[in-house]
Amino acid sequence: MLKAMHTKIQPIDPENPNLTDLQEAADLLNAGELVAFPTETVYGLGANAFDATAVAKIFAAKERPSADPLIVHIYSLAQLDQITASVPPLAWELAHRFWPGPLTLILPRHPTNIPPSVSSGLDTVAVRMPNHKIPHALFKLGDLAVAAPSANLFTRPSPTTAQHVLDDLGGRLPLILDGGSATIGVESTVLDLTQEPPVILRPGGLPREALTAVLPHITYTPRYTNLVETKAASPSPGTHLKHYAPNVALRLYKGETATVLAQMKRDTAVLTASGQRVGLLIAAEDVAHFESTAVYIAQLGSLNDLSEMARTLFAHLRQLERADVDIVLTRLFSDEGLGLALRDRLIRATEGQIIPV
Ligand code: TXA
Ligand code: MG
Repeated sequence: MLKAMHTKIQPIDPENPNLTDLQEAADLLNAGELVAFPTETVYGLGANAFDATAVAKIFAAKERPSADPLIVHIYSLAQLDQITASVPPLAWELAHRFWPGPLTLILPRHPTNIPPSVSSGLDTVAVRMPNHKIPHALFKLGDLAVAAPSANLFTRPSPTTAQHVLDDLGGRLPLILDGGSATIGVESTVLDLTQEPPVILRPGGLPREALTAVLPHITYTPRYTNLVETKAASPSPGTHLKHYAPNVALRLYKGETATVLAQMKRDTAVLTASGQRVGLLIAAEDVAHFESTAVYIAQLGSLNDLSEMARTLFAHLRQLERADVDIVLTRLFSDEGLGLALRDRLIRATEGQIIPV
C-alpha cells in the first residue's frame, strides 16, 4: 500500500513560466520525488531518469507493470550523450527537424547511466524533447533528464489537464504543475530507429505523413497484443490493448459512414428500449442523425478537423465515465493526419471490439 501524501497543485503560466515557481519542482525531482508536468501531448509523471529508486516510484504510483518502458524527456540535444549508447545520423536529422515536438525516438540505451528499469530491461531507450515551455524551463533549471509516462493510472485515458492527473494520482505524488489543457491531446508518435527500416511503434501527435515525407521507407503495422496477459516486454511494449480503456463499455463501429450511422441509430433505439442508457462519442456532423434520441452525446469535433477530434478524445472518455451511461457507441473515422492516432486510441479503448457493418 502506498502511503497517501498531500498533492500540491502549482499553477504555472505555459507561455512564460516563472522560475521561482518551478524551483520546488526541480528540487523535488533532484531529490528523487515525483512531479507531474504538462507537455504539448499529455501530462507526464516525471522522475529523475538517472535514479532507479525515483523511477520505481513511477511504476508504483501508476500501478504500471514493470514490463512497460518509460520515455526519457530532455530539454537539450547535449543530453543525448548521457542517455544513449550511440546516436545514428538519422536520429540527429529527425531531432533537428521535429524536436522539440511530439516525436519519441527509440535509440540504443546508455548501458550504465540509465537504469534498466526505465526501459524494462531492454537495451534501447525512448527519448523525446517536449515542445512546451514548462518542462523546458523546469529541466533546464534542475539540469534534468526526466523519465515520464503519461500521468494517468495504468489502463486509464491519458490526462490532458492537471485535474485529470489529480483525479487519478492525487495522494500519490507531492506536486502537479498546472499549465492548462494540452494542445495536441494524444501522446507522441513513437519511432523505433534501432530497426531498419525504422518502425512506427505508436501513431501519435506527429502525423505519419510528416515522417514518411522525410523517410518514405518507414513502416507501420497496427499491433494490438495484450501485454497485461503476457507480462514479458514485447518488441513493441505498451502497444497492448486496455491501455486507454475507460471504465465504461464501448462499442466501435466500422464501415461505410451512412450504413454505420444507420446501424448505430438502430442499436441506440434497441438498447434504450431494453433499459440501457446509451452514450454516443461522435463527430459534430454525426449529431443530426441522432437528434430525436434521448442519449448523452460527446461531440469530438468536426470531421474536417481530425486534430481537434484527437485533442478532445481523452477528456470526452473521462466525461463519459462520469455521465450516467451503461454503454457508449462510437465509430472509426478517417486515418489521415492525427486521425491515425485517434483511431488507434479508440481501438484500444474498446479493447479491439470492432463491429463491422
Ligand atoms: O506524449 C508522450 O509520449 C507522453 C508525454 C508525457 O511525453 N508520454 C507517454 O508515455 O505517452 P507512456 O509511458 O504512456 O508511453 C510510452 C510509450 C509506450 O508505448 C512504451 O511502450 C514506448 O513508449 N516505449 C518506451 N520505451 C520503449 C523502448 N525502449 N522500446 C519500445 N517502446 C518503448
Ligand atoms: Mg500512457
